Amino acid sequence: MKNKKIFLCLIVNFLLGFPSIFCATQNVTVTVIGTGYVGLITGACCADFGHTVFCVDNDAAKIEQLTHNHIPIYEPGLAALVVKNVAGQRLHFTTDMAGAVDKSNVIVIAVGTPMGQNGCADLSAVYQVFAAIANHLDTYKIICIKSTVPIGTGHKMIQFLTQLGVDQNNFDLVSNPEFLREGSAINDFMYPDRIVIGGTNSAAIESIKNLYAPLLNAGVPCVCTSIVSSETIKYASNAFLATKLSFINEIADICDNSGADIEDVAKGMGLDKRIGTAFLRPGPGFGGSCFPKDCHELDNMGKSLGVTMHVVEAALARNEEQKRKPFEKLSALMRGELAGKSVALLGLAFKNNTDDIRYSPAITTIELLLQNHVHIRAFDPAAMQNMRKLFPDLCYAQSIDQALTGADAAIILTEWDEFKSIDLAQAALLMNQKIIVDARNILDPAQLKEHSFAYAMMGRP
Ligand code: UDX
Repeated sequence: MKNKKIFLCLIVNFLLGFPSIFCATQNVTVTVIGTGYVGLITGACCADFGHTVFCVDNDAAKIEQLTHNHIPIYEPGLAALVVKNVAGQRLHFTTDMAGAVDKSNVIVIAVGTPMGQNGCADLSAVYQVFAAIANHLDTYKIICIKSTVPIGTGHKMIQFLTQLGVDQNNFDLVSNPEFLREGSAINDFMYPDRIVIGGTNSAAIESIKNLYAPLLNAGVPCVCTSIVSSETIKYASNAFLATKLSFINEIADICDNSGADIEDVAKGMGLDKRIGTAFLRPGPGFGGSCFPKDCHELDNMGKSLGVTMHVVEAALARNEEQKRKPFEKLSALMRGELAGKSVALLGLAFKNNTDDIRYSPAITTIELLLQNHVHIRAFDPAAMQNMRKLFPDLCYAQSIDQALTGADAAIILTEWDEFKSIDLAQAALLMNQKIIVDARNILDPAQLKEHSFAYAMMGRP
């Protein structure tokens, strides 16, 4: 229904001949600082709404690549969106932060906040950017924090700017977290479930709402709240989803030991509207740049606020166990006789449609296989280049068939479409032994049986 409404809005815009798919009610000039995942998607999508966007990064090589339409990350649909909006002269890439900020009404902070050594978010890039823009706040601007920052950071940054001598009348700060999934980020930006804006000044909140005018006009709900509540919504959402995953993975374990089928169990649970069907697919554990980092950060924030985060801690602990499961299932199928065997590892990215291997369960599986003297032949449609940086000596195959040829077993770790349609008859001919661990439950058990595979899935009898 929601998508239908936005789709109609899109058609009307198209028929009216607007330059872009959507048309903002009021054009805003925006500087997006940080051309990582979130910054690039935000910049390209805001430009597509009709706004003028300057994407800024201090990495000159990256900006040079982007100005030549070379997109440094793998995200379906992003390249076309960038090319279209650069051609429409709404999207610009530059290293000149001062020049971009001077021309803009809104400055979006989208720099990385990776997990530091101590498990807490590293805010050094955020501080650097605020220190740099402080010199350019001689006329009023809205600073919008999109980076995922610990609860309370927004207010700290207001204090920081004030300490640097910036006139409080020259800026307002808002929090506007993102909820973009890698692999479907453009769709998530264009068809969000909600927009969250936290601020202290209602006029500033209205300006940020104007940035999203095409979506709000199409009926997307907007939660306008305080800065600290907005920051909390982001962490609570990710930690809740991570908990849901750890829960279903634990129930899959119950199924493994009881003979129940997790597919039916998840379906039966998910039809209860209070539970919902999303995020009930068991797997090799969650990874990626957000869930592990944000759960650890929420745990740390809880401690600093005197709250023990029992549930979040359990979700994290379960996930560590879960990442070992594919290896343990393989070991059980091979009766512990792993040394010297050859295993095809299908899937290195933490999920499909991305080349991202951060906190990927594949890393745990590789480490366990190597510790047990297994020869690995790995294949992933997008993530091999990134995994090569971490494991340069691993053998990387050029295709699924090459990985399977002569293998004593195969493990599927990522739900890429090409793995779903593996030709099992062909695989049976190529492999040395017919053993498969399907850690994503994407293969058909009936077909595996038909081709005489010994197999293990997650929570399936
Ligand atoms: C997540 C959030 O969804 C997004 O809102 C936030 O802004 C960034 O973090 P992302 O990390 O890109 O997005 O991936 P997501 O699709 O949410 O999946 C996270 C992990 O859960 C992956 O490892 C995925 O394989 C796993 N997963 C997801 C499952 O194992 N089963 C499921 O049913 C869903």
